[in-house]
Formats: sequence, structure tokens, C-alpha cells
Amino acid sequence: MNDEILIRLFRAPVIPLVQTDDAEIAIRVTEALLRGGLSVVELVLRTRGALQCLAATSKACPEAIMGAGTVLRAEQAVAAIDAGAEFIVSPGLDETVVSVANEHSTMVIPGVATASEAQRAWKLGLGYVKIFPASIVGGPGLLNALGSVFGEMKFMPTGGLSAKNLAKYLAIPSVFACGGSWLTPAEAVASGDFERISSLANEAVEIARVARGV
Ligand code: 3PG
Repeated sequence: MNDEILIRLFRAPVIPLVQTDDAEIAIRVTEALLRGGLSVVELVLRTRGALQCLAATSKACPEAIMGAGTVLRAEQAVAAIDAGAEFIVSPGLDETVVSVANEHSTMVIPGVATASEAQRAWKLGLGYVKIFPASIVGGPGLLNALGSVFGEMKFMPTGGLSAKNLAKYLAIPSVFACGGSWLTPAEAVASGDFERISSLANEAVEIARVARGV
């Protein structure tokens, strides 16, 4: 499955974040993202109903690869994997979360913000990390600097990304994906404007196609 995630991200290197408390809405948003060309989706565990949303979406949208985001504790990682998460994303680096993911052979993408944290992740055997919050901790400049010293690591900038700066991040060879919530604006989710979500996804796919030549 980890290979399949990477293959899909090679074709469309963007991971949209989905935040909702409502399983039906999570399904509709995921379907909209799929129509727009994005099939690796991170559902963030920031609402009471997030795990139910994850379980329902994993079942209803088998074409999507669903992951859990904002995984802060080992028990959340266990619950997310039980609910169908095929990858785990954390804002920071927590060894217990990494261990749970490894025990379940589930891809884990912890967040790092400095060279020391990237080095710690590398020491734990992790080749794929999130840079968070990317726009605040150094943006493309930081990614270029980290990429030049951690030659075998790949990065996913998240935090402050949008259609405006996506091409700049995707131009960096060490970036394996870009993550963000700009694809699922809260007002579009709340008002059921799924067409807008599809068109934002499609716009991101087009930007990636031009930036990466895929
Ligand atoms: C995350 O959890 O990765 C961030 O909240 C995403 O940041 P964004 O909302 O600026 O895209």
C-alpha cells in the first residue's frame, strides 16, 4: 500500500485535508476530490466524529486512499488504523505514533520543522516527513536547504500552501507531495459546495502537471 500511495502522489503530488464531524459530508467531500483528480486524502482527527468519518469514507470511497491527520497520540494512531487509515500524518514527531504505524506496516509522515528534527526522523528510519508549518518555518528556502543535506529524505510541506504558491513548492525536487486545507474551504464544506472542491482539486492537479511535467 505504501508503494501505491507514492505512485499516486507521483502522478498528483497533492494531499487535501478534510475536516468535518459528519460522515456523509466526509464522503461527499472525498467524492468531490476524487472527481477533481486527487485520491490520497487526509482526514484530520480534530473533531469528535472524525474517526467515524474516516471509517465511513474508507468504506464508501474505495478508490480513495484515506489517511488520518493530526494524529497526536499512539492510541489515536491505533484507532485511526482500525478505522481504515492507510497512512498517518502528525504535526510533530512522536516516537510512539511512529512505532504504532510501523507495527501495522502503515506509512507514517510525522511533522518536522528543523534540521535536528529531520535528523531524528531519519534516525528512526523515516524517509518521508511533513514540514510544518511550512510557510512559517522557512517556506521553499528551508526545503531547499534541508533537501541539500538530507539527500535521501523526501518532504511534504503543509501549512500556508495554496494554488498561488503550489508550483513554487512542487519545483523543489525533494518535495514528494504538498498538503493543505485550501482545497476544502470550510465554507464550501459547510454549504455543500462540492463543485467548488472538485474544481480546486482539478486546479491543483493542473498546477502539478505543469510544475512536474507529469
Ligand atoms: C495541517 O494540519 O497540516 C495544517 O493545519 C494545514 O495547514 P493549512 O490549513 O494552512 O493548509
